[in-house]
Amino acid sequence: MSSTKPESVINDKAPSATRRDTLSITDNRTGRQYELPIKNETVRALDLRPMKVNDEDFGLMGYDPAFTNTASCSSKITFIDGDKGILRYRGYSIEELAEKSTYIETAYLILYGELPDKSQLADWSYHVTHHTFIHESIKKFLDGFHYDAHPMGMLISTVAALSTFYPDAKDIFNPESRRKQTYRLIGKMPTLAAFAYRHSLGMPFVYPDNDLSYCGNFLNMLFRTTELKYRPNPTLERALDILFILHADHEQNCSSTAMRCVGSSHVDPYCATAAATAALYGPLHGGANEAVLRMLVEIGSINNVPAYIKRVKAGEKLLMGFGHRVYKNYDPRARIVKHIAYEVFDVMGKNPLIEIALECERIALEDDYFVSRRLYPNVDFYTGLIYQSMGFPMTMFPVLFAIPRTSGWIAQWEEMLLDPEQKISRPRQVYLGHDLRSYTPLDRRG
Ligand code: CMC
Repeated sequence: MSSTKPESVINDKAPSATRRDTLSITDNRTGRQYELPIKNETVRALDLRPMKVNDEDFGLMGYDPAFTNTASCSSKITFIDGDKGILRYRGYSIEELAEKSTYIETAYLILYGELPDKSQLADWSYHVTHHTFIHESIKKFLDGFHYDAHPMGMLISTVAALSTFYPDAKDIFNPESRRKQTYRLIGKMPTLAAFAYRHSLGMPFVYPDNDLSYCGNFLNMLFRTTELKYRPNPTLERALDILFILHADHEQNCSSTAMRCVGSSHVDPYCATAAATAALYGPLHGGANEAVLRMLVEIGSINNVPAYIKRVKAGEKLLMGFGHRVYKNYDPRARIVKHIAYEVFDVMGKNPLIEIALECERIALEDDYFVSRRLYPNVDFYTGLIYQSMGFPMTMFPVLFAIPRTSGWIAQWEEMLLDPEQKISRPRQVYLGHDLRSYTPLDRRG
C-alpha cells in the first residue's frame, strides 16, 4: 500500500513565520529558491517550469500518471468530499435531489446551474421530449450489428453517427447551437439505447411516446410489446428516475475527462459524447455494474464468498463494485441505491444474488484488507441487482449509466469550452526511450 506520508514531507512542524498563501521551494540541484503562489489549494504546474539547472534545461514538470493529484480544470458543477462521503450537484445534496427531484429537473440543474422555475421546466421537458425521435437511417446502422453485439458498442457508434446527421453541431461557440444539441443528446440517448436493446432481441423498434415521462418513455421503448398504450409501473419508473439522478454527474471521472479532452479539440459534441461513452464502457468505470453481476453469478452462493474474498486479497481478482479513486468513505450513492433495491424487489421479487452481495459487503467491511485500503461499496455494487430485477440483461447495465451521465458530460463540455483558461488538452510526457541512434539496414539487424 502507498505510504500515508508522501516522500515530499520533510518537516511536519508548523512554521513559526506568518502565514502566506505561497509555497517555498529550494531546488537542491542549484540551491535556488522559489516562492509559488497557492490559490484554491493548488499550485500552478507551470510555475515549476522556471526551475532549471541550466538555460537549455526544459524546466521542471509535475509527474502525475492517472491524474491522482492534478486538477485539470476549475468547475462549478459537482462537489465531492471523498473523505466525508459527500456528493452535491450545483450545491444541492444528492440525498435531497434523489428524494425530491426528477432526473429531467436535475439534468437542467446540472446543465444550467439553477433549479428551473415552472415555465423553464415545462420548456426544457418539452424540448427534450420533442427531440427523442432519431433519423430513420440510424435504424439501418443498428441493423448492421450482430444480434449479440454489446449495446454499449451500438450506443457508442450511433451517438458518433449523430454527428453526421447534424453538421450544425460543429458550430460549438454558438449558444443556440449548443442548446439544440443538448436537447438532441438528452432526448435521443434513451432512444438509441432502447433501439440497441430491441435489436439484440430481434424485436421491432418502439417509437417514443410523448405522453410519458423521460424514464416512463424509456421503459416504453424497451419493453412495450402488444399493448396499445404502455403504462410503466410507477415504482419502477421512479426507481429508474432516482438511479438516473444518482448517475447524472460525478465531476472529473474518466468519461468526463474524455469528454473534456476530446471536446477540447473543438470536435462536435456527438463525437465527444461517443468518446465519453467509450470511456464509460470499461469495467473499472461504468462497466463495473455489469462486472459486479458477472462476479456475483461466478461466486454463485454465500458459501463461496470467503474463498472469493481470499482470491481478491491474494491479488487474483478485484471485488467489483468496491473502491473509488475519490471516495474513501461509503459512496453516498451506494447507500441510496441499496434502499431502492428493496423497493424494486417488493414489486419484482427479491433478486437471489442480493444475499451474496450482502455477504461480500459484510465480510469486506470487517476485513483489514478492505478497511486499511478504505474500500467501500461504490454506486455500481447494487445497481446491477436492481437492473436485473427490472428485466434488463447485464449488457444493458453500462448503457443505463451512459444515458443519465450525458447531462453531466454536456455540462462539463460546455464549461470547458467557455473557460478562457482551457486550451486543447495536451499532457506532457517523461521520455525514457532511446537517445538518437542511426538506422540499421534490415540485413544488418540481429
Ligand atoms: N478489489 C480489491 N482491491 C482493490 C479494489 C477492489 N475493487 N479497488 C482497489 N483495490 C486495492 C488496490 O489493489 C490497491 O491495493 P495496493 O495498495 O495493495 O496496491 C488499493 O486498493 C488502492 O487501489 P487503486 O487501484 O490504487 O485505486 P484507484 O483509485 O486507482 O482505483 C478503482 C479506483 C475504482 C478503479 C478501483 O477501486 C477498482 O478497480 N474498483 C473495482 C471497479 C469498480 O467498482 N469501478 C467502479 C467505480 S465507481 C463508478 C464510477 O464512477 O465509475
